[in-house]
Amino acid sequence: MIDWSEETGIWKLDTPGTTYLIGLCEGRWLGHLYYGERLQGTAAQMAPALGLLRTGEPPLPPGEDIGEEAGFRNVFPWEFPTCGGGDFHEGCLDVRDEFGQSGAVLTFAGASITPGKPSLEGLPASFAGESEADTLTITLRDEALGFSVELLYGVFRDLDVITRSVRVVNRGERALHLTQVLSAALSMDQEGYRVITMPGSWARERRLQLSDPGCGTVISESLRGEPSHAAQPFVGLVSEKADQESGRVYGLHLVYSGNFLGRTQVDENGMLRAVLGIHPWHFDWKLAPGESFVAPEVVCTFSAQGLGGMSRTLHDFYRRHLIRRPQNGAWHPILINSWEAAYFDFDEEKLLSLARTASAAGCDLLVVDDGWFGERDSDAGSLGDWWVNPGKLPHGLAWLSARLRELGMRLGLWFEPEMVSPDSDLFRAHPDWVQRCRSREPAQCRNQYVLDFSNPAVVEYICACMDHILDSADIAYVKWDMNRSLTDAGSSYLPADRQGEVFHRHVLGLYRIQEHLRERYPSLLLENCSSGGARFDPGMLYYSPQIWASDNMDPVSRALTLEGTALLYPLSVIGSHVCKSPGDIVGRRVPLSTRAICAMPGTFGYELDLRALPERERAQIPEQICVRRLLQEVSDEGDLYRIASLRESGDFDCIEVMAKDRSEGYLFALQVLEEPSMRSRHIRLAGLDPHRTYTVQRVLWPGEDDEEIPGQREPYLRQKREVLTAGGDVLLRAGMLLQRPKGDFVAELFVIRAVESGESRQAR
Ligand code: GLA
Repeated sequence: MIDWSEETGIWKLDTPGTTYLIGLCEGRWLGHLYYGERLQGTAAQMAPALGLLRTGEPPLPPGEDIGEEAGFRNVFPWEFPTCGGGDFHEGCLDVRDEFGQSGAVLTFAGASITPGKPSLEGLPASFAGESEADTLTITLRDEALGFSVELLYGVFRDLDVITRSVRVVNRGERALHLTQVLSAALSMDQEGYRVITMPGSWARERRLQLSDPGCGTVISESLRGEPSHAAQPFVGLVSEKADQESGRVYGLHLVYSGNFLGRTQVDENGMLRAVLGIHPWHFDWKLAPGESFVAPEVVCTFSAQGLGGMSRTLHDFYRRHLIRRPQNGAWHPILINSWEAAYFDFDEEKLLSLARTASAAGCDLLVVDDGWFGERDSDAGSLGDWWVNPGKLPHGLAWLSARLRELGMRLGLWFEPEMVSPDSDLFRAHPDWVQRCRSREPAQCRNQYVLDFSNPAVVEYICACMDHILDSADIAYVKWDMNRSLTDAGSSYLPADRQGEVFHRHVLGLYRIQEHLRERYPSLLLENCSSGGARFDPGMLYYSPQIWASDNMDPVSRALTLEGTALLYPLSVIGSHVCKSPGDIVGRRVPLSTRAICAMPGTFGYELDLRALPERERAQIPEQICVRRLLQEVSDEGDLYRIASLRESGDFDCIEVMAKDRSEGYLFALQVLEEPSMRSRHIRLAGLDPHRTYTVQRVLWPGEDDEEIPGQREPYLRQKREVLTAGGDVLLRAGMLLQRPKGDFVAELFVIRAVESGESRQAR
């Protein structure tokens, strides 16, 4: 709901539990007043909040003291700060004019409120019907340069989310160059906030970090053409005393898959400013008269219920308003992936024998990963040559998919569409189709170059290649990979004054092809991937309902990556597989049950040669799949609670997922190293109904002997041992004990179920 008061010059944006206030100073300058817990009353009643602009303190606004205008500009809490006019913090907008001079000064020009939420041309964005959200558009104008800026606020009615994006329109007669267009800023007093970032590396993605900015700056950024392994396009602010379930937390998340800058600065006056958007480095967008530029959306949320509150809002938001599942959305295949099972070394017989074992265990989908095309037997060549390798698959894909159908399975295929190998027919035919700067050879990475997606002919060509393959067989799933950073960002297609557009145009081209796939193959399940999890962002989520989180599937590493990833993303999108032991990346020996349990909070699949497992382990797999299917709905749709963090404890990780109706849920617990002479672990559950009674029961795998409960439906819950029955209030408040399992790297899975009311009374 959006309310505007002409009298006070205040816009009041309300979501169910939050309020966002924007105020006008002197009828011209747009300031940020407040974002936080919901305030009662109308915009007209918010007049006292205008005091928060501190316009009564020197340096006074220009209307009162023109001699201190520059000083005023540096202290005013701008709603959309610009560069060059006296504000020495990071701005959102900088514009270069025909004289080569830069800067922008924006004043208020008008506003409108409309029901619903418009889409953003060529960009991913959250969606909402007219009854689900309203949009506030505030127009600002730069009188000197003749352009306008529309600030778009999507205010959601069902969740505590406000989205922001920006459209710059050149209304003048001369071309302008946008050299910085960030999507959102948040200015407020620093009240002890720490900043969340997610540094990482290949196989070590999104490791949560909290930093105190002091009087200084915390930066999260990427210059690699994608968000990268090393950062997440997110700015999080956490109040001093906040924890998982209490305290103030702000989250700003950019719906974008390219270079980004998230910068949180605390200045000498104690003002905190956070900005987020496309990185200005190597960004220079020429805006001809009449043209407009749209900056990607930022999802803003505020939680007074700690980090967990923020996570659950974002999870619901992405599930309801960003992710577009394929037409057959109910299909959640459990897959077997050929990569770590065979790498490049496969043929039809090997794939089919892998599929036979997987299908017998209950898998639905065989993903033929890298190596099925061109003459690809290693990563040294063939990217771009998207035709079937006749040496490996002489009968072709249609034949393979038909054989899989006979086994009750579908076929999935790996592509890396943005890339070309120097040793490929595509590169030999079109050497000018790669990104490169004219005066030097481009740098290779994993023996490959990046295609120039700013050239529409290249984008069209890749669409046609993918269509050709996808039309040729029954292909249910595509894994879209991207295995190198963008360097040498130059285009032989664009003129000299548009070379600063290459990074962004690459992302737009990527979005175009993925949108094309969605339209042409509405039932295709797309999973994005980038050398593991280097492009795990809300932008990709708009096109693919799941994203590969990391090449590292080791449970201990994964627990750390999951903490960062699941802070923002629902479990349903987090690509996770069971790997071999010792794993190829960290070499840790981990029991199969632990590897399986730790892959369950995610999409779930297997990425190892199941045929090579000892019979005793292979026998566990059908039950693992059965348990995973039982978890599916709660895991995908439920509320996530972090009970313990390996990052904090060093030896124990624990998460809980509860259905929205609080009738059932699961608890995942991982012990890293066993320590002798330690007492049991005391945990408190979350998300239960205090008035109901629950049972908590550990899942036992075949071979873990115990007494059978006659009549128990699910075989894996047949044993009686370790069933705890207690009131929700007891489990929530007094908590429960988890016995320490024997051994290192042991994961346990517990099923939590509400007891029907009759039984419930008896039990209590
Ligand atoms: C990347 C992906 C892997 C696999 C390989 C294939 O590294 O992250 O899952 O697909 O490429 O080359």
